[in-house]
Amino acid sequence: MFKQPSIIHESAIIGAGTKIWAFSHVCENAVIGENCVIGEGVHIGPGVVIGDNCKIQNHALLYTGVTIGNRVFIGPNVVTTNDIDPQACGDWSERFRKTIIADDVAIGANSTILCGITIERGCRIGCGSLITKDCKAWHRYYNPNTQALQMAEMTTPTNGTIRIEP
Ligand SMILES: CC(C)(COP(=O)(O)OP(=O)(O)OC[C@H]1O[C@@H](n2cnc3c(N)ncnc32)[C@H](O)[C@@H]1OP(=O)(O)O)[C@@H](O)C(=O)NCCC(=O)NCCS
Repeated sequence: MFKQPSIIHESAIIGAGTKIWAFSHVCENAVIGENCVIGEGVHIGPGVVIGDNCKIQNHALLYTGVTIGNRVFIGPNVVTTNDIDPQACGDWSERFRKTIIADDVAIGANSTILCGITIERGCRIGCGSLITKDCKAWHRYYNPNTQALQMAEMTTPTNGTIRIEP
């Protein structure tokens, strides 16, 4: 089922039961398995492969070179990469790196995955993480910088919002 307007390239393969919500772009030769949910505004680059029963949340960016297994959760605004040292001009084929996200992985919102990385089966990536190295199967990873922020002193102003003080 497609929620228009989305752009699905004619060469893309989309499995039975997969739903794609509005404003998403599925590029040439992308393969999406069965019973997936692709949220709003998702970019699925040329040749990206996604397995079955995956949930890709709104505005996730999955660039060429990304391969995703089965039952994978990709949180909103997750960013993958494929150029290890990006520059605007010139050939970048030497800098291209693939990324593998194995079965049963869940990646929290706003995480960024450096390219050339393998996230092994069952990993949980906390929201806001920056992943720069391979992740071992069935482990949890959080970004230490985010944790440091959470440890900063917090006050609750009378208007009810939370302010983080350095
Ligand atoms: C990682 C996560 C799954 C919790 O894992 P957990 O092992 O149960 O972690 P806990 O809640 O017990 O917290 C353990 C510690 O890590 C910290 N922590 C938890 N999540 C964190 C994160 N994303 N980044 C940094 N630190 C985090 C906690 O503050 C706690 O710190 P403390 O030991 O100083 O108290 C959860 O925090 C998370 O990030 N979920 C993703 C939510 C999301 O993006 N959902 C998708 C959109 S709906």
